[in-house]
Amino acid sequence: MKHVPTLFLLLSTLLLAVSVESLPPPLFPDEALPTKSGYLPVKPAPGSSMFYTFYEAQKPTTTLTDTPLLIWLQGGPGCSSMIGNFYELGPWRVVSRATELEPNPGAWNRLFGLLFLDNPIGVGFSIAASKQDIPKNQRQVAEQLYAALVEFIEQNQGFEHRPVYITGESYAGKYVPAIGYYILKEKPNGKVNLKGLAIGNGLTDPVTQIRTHAVNVYYSGLVNAKQREELEKAQEISISLVKAQKWREAADARLELLTLIGNMTGLATLYNTARMIPYRTDLVVDLLNQREAKRVLGVSETMRFEECSDEVEEALRGDVMKSVKFMVEYAVERTNVLLYQGMLDLRDGVVSTEEWMKTMNWSGLGMFLTAERKVWKDGNGDVAGYVQRWGNLSHVAVSGAGHFVPTDKDVNSRDMIESWVLGKGLFGGEDVRQTLTSSVLESKSNRFDSEN
Ligand SMILES: *[C@@H]1O[C@H](CO)[C@@H](O)[C@H](O)[C@H]1NC(C)=O
Ligand SMILES: *[C@@H]1O[C@H](CO)[C@@H](O)[C@H](O)[C@H]1NC(C)=O
Ligand SMILES: *[C@@H]1O[C@H](CO)[C@@H](O)[C@H](O)[C@H]1NC(C)=O
Repeated sequence: MKHVPTLFLLLSTLLLAVSVESLPPPLFPDEALPTKSGYLPVKPAPGSSMFYTFYEAQKPTTTLTDTPLLIWLQGGPGCSSMIGNFYELGPWRVVSRATELEPNPGAWNRLFGLLFLDNPIGVGFSIAASKQDIPKNQRQVAEQLYAALVEFIEQNQGFEHRPVYITGESYAGKYVPAIGYYILKEKPNGKVNLKGLAIGNGLTDPVTQIRTHAVNVYYSGLVNAKQREELEKAQEISISLVKAQKWREAADARLELLTLIGNMTGLATLYNTARMIPYRTDLVVDLLNQREAKRVLGVSETMRFEECSDEVEEALRGDVMKSVKFMVEYAVERTNVLLYQGMLDLRDGVVSTEEWMKTMNWSGLGMFLTAERKVWKDGNGDVAGYVQRWGNLSHVAVSGAGHFVPTDKDVNSRDMIESWVLGKGLFGGEDVRQTLTSSVLESKSNRFDSEN
């Protein structure tokens, strides 16, 4: 008789094992769960809150209280940072199937904490209490973002002094300078220990940038001379609307121009000339609309996840063509700025950024423009891109990547951001006029992970 309990235990264990085995594998394995996720109330918009996912550093090299914190902001206007999280730079991504998260070999949270914010309110899983609370300009975007960041830092003990780097892509070429400018100008002694701003394939100074489309596609062989003229006319329509301060019409005209380029070139996507199909951001939409995803991330099951919010796009349409170049000029005098672009992007690519960079009102511009553009080699000795740096300004052109640099070049993008934050490799060393001393420097390694 005394064996009965043992037998019972054995049987029930067996049964449990069988029933566990017959369950489908979880969508989110434990390792794929964010360290934290949830909502940050946004003042001064009562009832509104920003959704976030936070991933602590996997292999920090300092105590966590000193470990840098990267913040990622998606573009749009109106697109969710969960695209960045689950399709670009987060530690677990959906790459081929919405039901299978795979570890990212180039996750940006190897050495640093990584915070994704659905910005502004109304985007992704974020909540806008009312339509009126959705920002209409970069000032309002910055105020709300700042409130959310302060809330996040206050909620987490030991985060007060962590160096903060604000990063983002595409239309975040507006958000990143806006929050940087706000902190540096109005909250220099506030709760956010800002150490740098990084923008990937950004829209920052739209008029200068859209003027590059026609020549860019012409010299790439994608259109002929007659089509180039047509594109130049379309560009000028948008620019003349900007001059007349018809901001929304100017934004519409820009989209018309991009559609025209799409029609002329017949490419699958203007975001990457080498892709045969558009980026698969739809996988993230499918992933996040599954009940289990919402449950583990702390989101109400009744919320529907959309890649980009029409309501937010509508609220910010009048902002699209406005330049924030002056905010970058202000920031680069006070903190580090990285502008990087995947070379295969026809929307916000390398030339599109270099054109406005060379018009920056910045004391270091002359030195920057004459600094050597160095070849960056990856671990295999292959060309990974080009790096130009002087003082607080760094520019990187990334080889083999389009608009979504971390999707196309995961490990290289991670090496880039780590080296920039840590001031290592091509981002390290003295500020020297490379044109005068390049022969001396040639002997040094140009690998990012070298210590010079
Ligand atoms: C682009 O092509 C579509 C489909 O052929 C057409 O409806 C549209 O008017 C075109 N747009 C422009 C700006 O050329
Ligand atoms: C670069 O940023 C630092 C702060 O990190 C600032 O003190 C310095 O003045 C800036 N340098 C230039 C040339 O703008
Ligand atoms: C350049 O910036 C300085 C202040 O940083 C300002 O005084 C000057 O007016 C600006 N110049 C132009 C052409 O905007």
